[in-house]
Amino acid sequence: MKYFIGNWKMFGIPSSINILNKINSFRSRDINRNKYRVVITPPYTLLETFAKKFKNKKIMIGSQNCYQKNQFSSNTAAISPYMIKKVGGKYTLIGHSDNRAEGDTNSMLKDKVKFALKNNLKVIFCIGENKLQKNNNKTFSVLKSQLNKVLEKRFNKNNIIVAYEPIWSIGTGKIPSQKDLSKTTIHIKKVLKKIFKKNSPLILYGGSVDENNVKVFKQIKEIDGFLIGGASKSSKKFIDIIKNYYR
Ligand code: PGA
Repeated sequence: MKYFIGNWKMFGIPSSINILNKINSFRSRDINRNKYRVVITPPYTLLETFAKKFKNKKIMIGSQNCYQKNQFSSNTAAISPYMIKKVGGKYTLIGHSDNRAEGDTNSMLKDKVKFALKNNLKVIFCIGENKLQKNNNKTFSVLKSQLNKVLEKRFNKNNIIVAYEPIWSIGTGKIPSQKDLSKTTIHIKKVLKKIFKKNSPLILYGGSVDENNVKVFKQIKEIDGFLIGGASKSSKKFIDIIKNYYR
């Protein structure tokens, strides 16, 4: 099963549901529809209406983050995994580089993963190196530490998807070479197999994925799908990514 996950970030108002309607009607007619799953992570403000509208459809709705507590607390403006689940969210991103840059630490991320799983959300755990780390050949050690400091064997690997998103690639139009990406994905899989004892969660690639470059990634068999930012705000681009992937 492949995944096409659209991360809307700070984009979307109620009428943006039209984008999902278009993606849904494409998907329901697509001959390849049983080969992939579509997940969209709108902002919190749209989570409930979108999740209700697509409840019986094949598009899944998720959140872009969650707070590191289980249910209710006195943290102003925080949204817990329980609250996300109760409005119909099925997935949550955790550890996006935007949130790491704003202060999410490994121990916060571990709690987020723990409580998200406890509330039966599927976790899309994001990792990635920055440009300096890449230039200093630190990519492998950075990724290893991001994985080892948060994921644990007792977490259900079937409910975790790892998204590799090099920070220098997010929103820049730059993508890793096929050779580098292939090596890095194999490395991530190795680290995950160590954590989860033989079995690895699925691995997605994210960072400037668009309808033109998606073909490049298809060659890398370790990649189970994509986390798509910018291009997921356009139904046409998002649909073209899926079309071109299977072409
Ligand atoms: P991008 O974003 O596709 O716009 O590079 C990806 C992400 O941040 O998840």
